Amino acid sequence: DDLAIEVDEHNTDAKHLLRAAEQLKHSNIPVAFPTETVYGLGADATRSEAVRGIYKAKQRPADNPLIVHFASLKQLTDLLTPSQATGIKALTNGHTLDIHDDDPIPAIYRPLITKFWPGPLTIILPNPPNSQLAPEVTAGLATFGARIPANLLALALIKLAGIPIAAPSANASTKPSPTAAEHVAFDLNGRIETILDGGPCDVGVESTVVDGLCDPPLILRPGGVSAEQLRSCAGWENVQVGYKNAAETAGSQPRAPGMKYRHYSPRAPVVLFEAGAGAPTVEQMRGYLGGNAKLGVIRTRCWTINAGDDGRLISTSGPIQNGQTSVQREEPGGFVGLLATIRSTPQPSRTITAHNIPAKSSLFELLDLALGPDTAGIARGVFAALRELDKRDVDAILVEGIDDTEGTTAAAVMNRLRKAAEVNVAG
Ligand code: TXA
Ligand code: MG
Repeated sequence: DDLAIEVDEHNTDAKHLLRAAEQLKHSNIPVAFPTETVYGLGADATRSEAVRGIYKAKQRPADNPLIVHFASLKQLTDLLTPSQATGIKALTNGHTLDIHDDDPIPAIYRPLITKFWPGPLTIILPNPPNSQLAPEVTAGLATFGARIPANLLALALIKLAGIPIAAPSANASTKPSPTAAEHVAFDLNGRIETILDGGPCDVGVESTVVDGLCDPPLILRPGGVSAEQLRSCAGWENVQVGYKNAAETAGSQPRAPGMKYRHYSPRAPVVLFEAGAGAPTVEQMRGYLGGNAKLGVIRTRCWTINAGDDGRLISTSGPIQNGQTSVQREEPGGFVGLLATIRSTPQPSRTITAHNIPAKSSLFELLDLALGPDTAGIARGVFAALRELDKRDVDAILVEGIDDTEGTTAAAVMNRLRKAAEVNVAG
C-alpha cells in the first residue's frame, strides 16, 4: 500500500517539488502545501526545531497539538510499533481495544481507514513508547492525530521528504483557514519561504478528528467527513459528538473585545444568523453597522437581495438559483503553478465577484457574496468569502447560516462560523 511516485528531475514543477521536500528535511522554516481540506503549514514531525518553526510562523501558542500527515499506511505503521499495546490499555482506563499483534493500528479504525483514507479524516492514535515524534507535536499528550491527505501534491511532497509531516492550517493564528495559496501568502508573507500552489482546495473545511480510543468513540472536530458517513462504519454506529456545539450561545450579546479566543475570524466583526433566524432588515443592518458605511453579506441557501421599498433589503424568498452564484471555482489545471514563492505574485485561483448593490436608502454600501445552496459549495467557499470581505474593508459581515442537523458537512461549516462570529442571532 505504499505510494509509488516518479519524478522527472528536468521538469520545472518537479524541481520545485523536490526543493520543497529538501526544505522540509533540512530547514527549520515550515513549507506551506495544499491538501484537499485547507492549506497546511508543514514541518518534519520528528525534529523539535522544525516543529517550533510552525508555531513561530503562525504566531500560535504551542499548547495545541498538531496533526501528523503521512503519504501511506506503511509510513504510519512504520512509526508505530506492536509493543505499544500496554500503552493503549493505560490510555483507555482498562476499556479493551482489539489490537492484533501484527497490526499496530487499533482495529476500530480499520473500517474508517478503508473508507476514508486518503481523505479528510484524522484519527487519534496512542503515541508509541520512544516515539520518533517531537514532543512539540503532541503538546504533551499521550496520543497524536494522524491523517493521509487526498491531495496528490501533498502525498508526493510527504513521500519525497520521507518523513511524517506535522501541519496545522497555514493561516496566521486567529484568521480564517487558507483554501488557496494566495491566502497563505497574505497571512505569512515574510515568515515563510515556500508555498506549493495546488490551486483552490476541494473540501474547504478541515478534516474531521475522531477518537476511537474511548467508548463510545467521539468526533472531536466536525469536518470533511460527516457524522452520517462515520455512522455507516462498523463500530462507529454510536459515535458521539465530543466538541462543544456553540448553537446554545445563539442570541448572545456582542462579546467584549478579547473576551474569547478568536478563531477563523476576519478583521470585521461577524454576525451569524442561525438557519431559520430570517434575514435582517435595513434597520437591523444599520444597527450592526453603527454609523459605518460598508456592510458585507455572505448568502447561502435562502436570502436574496431585494432592494425594495419595504425596508427589508434582504428577504428570505426561496433558494438562490444557480445562475446567481457569484463564487466560481476554476478547474484546477493539473499541477500548473506548482510552486510560488511568496515573493512572486500568486495567481488568483478562485474568482469571487462582489456586487456593489446601491441600497435605496443609500445609507450604506452592501457587498454581497453568494455561496450558492449546496453544502459542498458553501464549505468550499466560506473561508475565502470571509477573507474577501475583509480585503474589501467592510465594517461588519452578516452571514446566512445553514441547518446543521442533517449530519452532513454543514456541521463543520456552522462550527467554524460560530467560532468566527461576534454575534449569533438565534433561529
Ligand atoms: O484538515 C486538516 O486537518 C488540516 C490540514 C492541514 O490537514 N490541519 C489542521 O490542523 O486543521 P490544526 O492544527 O489546525 O488542527 C488540529 C486539530 C485540533 O483541533 C487539535 O485539537 C486536534 O486536531 N488534535 C491534534 N492532536 C490531537 C490529540 N492528540 N488529541 C486530540 N485532538 C488532537
Ligand atoms: Mg487551524
